[in-house]
Amino acid sequence: MNEHRIDMTYLSQEDLLRAGCFDLKMAMDAAEKAMLSFRRKEILFPEKIVQIFAEHAQERINCLPATLLPERVCGVKWVSVFPANPARHGKQNLSAVFILSEIDSGFPVAFMEGTLASNMRVGAMGGVAAKYLSREDSKVIGFIGAGEQAKMTLAAIKTARPTINECRVSAKTTEEEEQFGTEMQALYPDINFVQTNADGQAAVDGADILVTATSAQAPLLKAAWMKPGAFYNHVGGWEDEYAVAKQCAKIVCDDWETVKHRTQTISRMYKDGELADDDIYADLPDMVTGDKPGRETDDERTYFNAVGLSYIDVAIALSMYNKAKDASAGQILTLQEHMLFEHKNLKDWLRR
Ligand SMILES: NC(=O)c1ccc[n+]([C@@H]2O[C@H](COP(=O)([O-])OP(=O)(O)OC[C@H]3O[C@@H](n4cnc5c(N)ncnc54)[C@H](O)[C@@H]3O)[C@@H](O)[C@H]2O)c1
Repeated sequence: MNEHRIDMTYLSQEDLLRAGCFDLKMAMDAAEKAMLSFRRKEILFPEKIVQIFAEHAQERINCLPATLLPERVCGVKWVSVFPANPARHGKQNLSAVFILSEIDSGFPVAFMEGTLASNMRVGAMGGVAAKYLSREDSKVIGFIGAGEQAKMTLAAIKTARPTINECRVSAKTTEEEEQFGTEMQALYPDINFVQTNADGQAAVDGADILVTATSAQAPLLKAAWMKPGAFYNHVGGWEDEYAVAKQCAKIVCDDWETVKHRTQTISRMYKDGELADDDIYADLPDMVTGDKPGRETDDERTYFNAVGLSYIDVAIALSMYNKAKDASAGQILTLQEHMLFEHKNLKDWLRR
């Protein structure tokens, strides 16, 4: 074995799926562990780099790095968001890859398909929030929006609250509701799926857990539809009227300092002077550490909004890589066999 050879593992989405990495429990555990590490200041978490190619359409590619010091791993998510893809090309909006490097020699160890991990992170944060903020006996979950994030959020919340036995769904079109029902029924045969013919109220009114995961920028969710004791997971941008947050006893974010500079409903409320820093009860890591209690009474309404923390993405990708490695999944790619000037035939390759 050449001592200067560098190998890394390539993992496609199918490699990850076959190796058992579509595991929301594993993702939620990785997310909670990373939040604890973050609070212990064991995470390097620099600013993301954003490159926008079409301002009006918000077409962009983001580069999101983070280092997990205890695991000795530095990773980056390279993620593209092209919101017009579904309408324009019949293709998905979001696509991502991860690179993971060890930080003993600094060499890359994995190059992975990342849409799966990225979507699992969105779901997992909702699942962890549901664990702390929803009623333990939650049975009915209602969705406005039936896309990729909605599906993953259902998978995670069902993991956190296995008592869920009814899922109501509304989307812009009945076809999407049908697709959601068919795809998710195959995964969760114990859930009764109810389509609503694009009726948001029918989907969420009186549900124990409400989720909005839409591409709309409008106050779709009304406060009157959220019963006492309900937990609301807000996944998209602007999706609920201001009165929803105002009536909630606890508003929790993944990171309020990040959320408040975005364009989520509660960020808009903050900018409009309708919500102050003091109105935010906690960030999710505060509940994971136990510094702040989660739900305290059966009838309090709770609100969760996450915009994404790349250290959680990297932690979930790492847990998937470790599981895939244990299953000997993927392909070994050789980055180099020798250091450059060690190649015996370098003179034949040099262009003068
Ligand atoms: N919070 C996060 O960390 C995070 C991460 C990724 C994506 N997102 C956001 O989540 C949202 C959903 O993403 P996705 O990948 O599932 O998108 P998607 O395109 O797969 O699904 C969007 C859904 O919204 C529905 N919708 C749009 N307008 C609607 C309306 N007026 N009424 C009812 N339903 C409507 C569509 O019918 C569709 O079901 C987007 O806003 C995206 O930016 C958030």
